Amino acid sequence: MASLTSQNSSGAPQHERVLIVDFGSQVTQLIARRLREMGVYCEVHPYNRADAVLAAGFNPKAVIFSGGPASVTTKNSPRAPKAAFDLGVPILAICYGQQTMAVQLGGEVEGGHAAEFGRADVEIREASPLFDGFWKVGGKYPVWMSHGDRVTQLPEGFKVIGTSENAPFAIAVDEKRRYYTTMFHPEVVHTPDGSKLLENFVKKVAGLKGDWTMAALRAEQIQKIRAQVGKGRVICGLSGGVDSSVAAVLIHEAIGDQLTCVFVDTGLMRANEADEVVSLFRNHYNIPLVHVDAGADFLGGLKGVDDPEKKRKFIGAKFIEIFEREAKRIGGAGFLAQGTLYPDVIESVSFDGGPSVTIKSHHNVGGLPERMNMKLVEPLRELFKDEVRALGKELGLPPAFIGRHPFPGPGLAIRIPGEVTAERVAVLQKADAIYLDEIRKAGLYDKIWQAFAVLLPVRSVGVMGDGRTYDNVLALRAVTSTDGMTADFYQFPMDFLGRTATRIINEVKGVNRVVYDITSKPPGTIEWE
Ligand code: XMP
Repeated sequence: MASLTSQNSSGAPQHERVLIVDFGSQVTQLIARRLREMGVYCEVHPYNRADAVLAAGFNPKAVIFSGGPASVTTKNSPRAPKAAFDLGVPILAICYGQQTMAVQLGGEVEGGHAAEFGRADVEIREASPLFDGFWKVGGKYPVWMSHGDRVTQLPEGFKVIGTSENAPFAIAVDEKRRYYTTMFHPEVVHTPDGSKLLENFVKKVAGLKGDWTMAALRAEQIQKIRAQVGKGRVICGLSGGVDSSVAAVLIHEAIGDQLTCVFVDTGLMRANEADEVVSLFRNHYNIPLVHVDAGADFLGGLKGVDDPEKKRKFIGAKFIEIFEREAKRIGGAGFLAQGTLYPDVIESVSFDGGPSVTIKSHHNVGGLPERMNMKLVEPLRELFKDEVRALGKELGLPPAFIGRHPFPGPGLAIRIPGEVTAERVAVLQKADAIYLDEIRKAGLYDKIWQAFAVLLPVRSVGVMGDGRTYDNVLALRAVTSTDGMTADFYQFPMDFLGRTATRIINEVKGVNRVVYDITSKPPGTIEWE
C-alpha cells in the first residue's frame, strides 16, 4: 500500500512518526493503539526522556501530550519538554497534557473544582479541523473525562471551542500554532468519536499519510535484528503462543540457522499443547527446536509456594536458568529472543522509570533475573497483540495458529491460586479442555479474546447420585478485548454455561461446582494471579 518515506542516518527506512509524551496516564498506550490502527507510526516516551529522544533525531510530524495522575499545581509536577514546542509541529494535549501546556505557555490551572470522572457531554462552540466531518457547532457529544484540576485562564492565542458542564475549557485551541487541547480523553472507547478526532489531528491537521504497514515493519525488524545480532547465536523461548511463534519465524527469516528455538515444557501447559507446538515447529517450519521436558523442575520448585508474585518470579528465573543451560549446550548463545509485547512493557514499568505500582511481574519482562548473561532480542516489543497477529499473517503463519487465544508464560500455575501440585494441574487441564471443546463446538472461539478455567483453592459440598461430595470449585473465565489492556467478560448464553458446567462436573473427578467470572478489566485483571 504505502511506501517508505525517508531514510534515517543508519540507512534504515523511517516512517512519518508521531511522538507521544507520556505523563503516566493508565490509558496512554491507547493513544498509540489508535494511531497505529490508522497506519501511523508513533512511539510513547516518558515526559522526562522526550527531550533526549528529540535530540537524538526522532523528528516527529506531530506530538501528543498524554493525560497523567499528577496535578500541575503541585511543586515539581511533570512538564512537557520545551523542545516539543520548538519543533513547529502540531501538538494535541490531552487532560493533564492540556493543563501543563496551559501553565507552560502562560495560562493558569486550579485544583479544587468539582471533579469530572466518566461520561460527560461536550458542546461544540466553533468549527475546527479537529472534529471536521462529525461534530457540528451547537451539537452535544459524549466524551470521557477523568480529572480533578482544570484550566482557569488560557494562554494567549488560545480560544475555547468546546465546553462541558464542569470543564469550561473542554476543547481549547490555538489554530495559528496548531496547538489543540482537550480536557477529555479521545483515546478511550467511551469517547465514541475519539478515534475520528485523533485521526483528524494526525491526518488533517498534521498531514500524515499513514505509511506504516506490516510489510514495512517486517522489513524494518529484519534489518534491526541483523544489526543487533551480527554473527551471534540466538535462543528463542517458544511458549506455543502467537507472540513467541511470530518472533521465532521473524528472527529465523532474519538470521536463519543462527537461531535455535527452545520449547520448555513446564508441565504447566494446557492438555496436548506441548505436542501441538513441537509438531508445528518441527513439521511446518524447518526451524531447529530443542524440546526440554522440565515439568518436574517447575513443580518441584513451586512446592509450598502460594504467593502469586513468588510463583511468577520463580517461573521467570527457572526459564532463564534453562535457556542459559541450553545456550551453553549449543555452544554458546549471546542472545535470548522473546515475544514481549508493548502492553507487557507498559504495565511493568513506571512512566518515569521510578518506582511504580507493579500490577503483575509479567515473566517475560519483570520476572527476568538481573544477572542474566544473554542480551534480549524482542522484535515485538513495540507491538500490540492484534499487530502481532497481522505480522504473523504477513509472515504466513497458519490462520488457526494466529487465532489462538493468548496463554501466559507462567502457564496454569497462575490459574491455580494457592499451591500448585501435579494433581491440581491434571484436574485443571481436564476441565479446561472440556471448556474449550464446548466453546469451539458452539462456534465461539474466535469471538472470544481468551477463555480458560481457574481451579480455586475452595471446596464445597455437593450431592452426586446418592452420595455427598466435598470437592473443588472451578471458575470459568472468558473475556473480549482488543489488546488485553482492558476487557469485558463474555456474555455466554446461559444454556452454554449450564451444559459446560454439567459436562465438567460429570467428567472431571475433583470438581463438583462451577462458577462463571463476570468481572471486567479493570477492576479485575484477566488472569486471577
Ligand atoms: P492480566 O492478567 O494482566 O493479563 O490482565 C493480560 C494478558 O496478559 C497475559 N499474561 C501474561 N502473558 N506472561 C505472558 O506472556 C505473563 O507473565 C503473563 N501474565 C498475564 C494474560 O493471559 C492476558 O492475555
